[in-house]
Amino acid sequence: MYVKWDDSYSNGIEIFDTQHKGLFKLINDLHDGIREKKNREALGTALGALMEYTNTHFGDEENAMRITGYPGYEDHKTQHVAFITQVSDINDRFRSGEPVMTMELVGLLVNWLKNHIQTVDRAYGPHLKAKGA
Ligand SMILES: [Fe+2]
Ligand SMILES: [Fe+2]
Repeated sequence: MYVKWDDSYSNGIEIFDTQHKGLFKLINDLHDGIREKKNREALGTALGALMEYTNTHFGDEENAMRITGYPGYEDHKTQHVAFITQVSDINDRFRSGEPVMTMELVGLLVNWLKNHIQTVDRAYGPHLKAKGA
């Protein structure tokens, strides 16, 4: 399942729209790698790149919410932590040789991100805008 950017994902905060587009690109890269049956090393690199960018992005969002006193900060962070935990677990299973690199995995990542970006990430948009972001 490819994920394609459209305005329904925009929360009006330019840096975060840009980062979300970056996440979509890394997921699509992983999708391509799996579809083209790339080797383990290439797939591991693609998953690692996605995890690293996700960590950076979540950290940037959390900082912006925290320093502006966003009321939904704790709940939002909880969602981030749950996702990181889930992806780390998949990565551990991959490293131990389990066949986790499937389109189901891509579907799971895409669905989580789409839902998260269209609901809780859009919800902080007006708050950050009001704080001058
Ligand atoms: Fe986000
Ligand atoms: Fe988020």
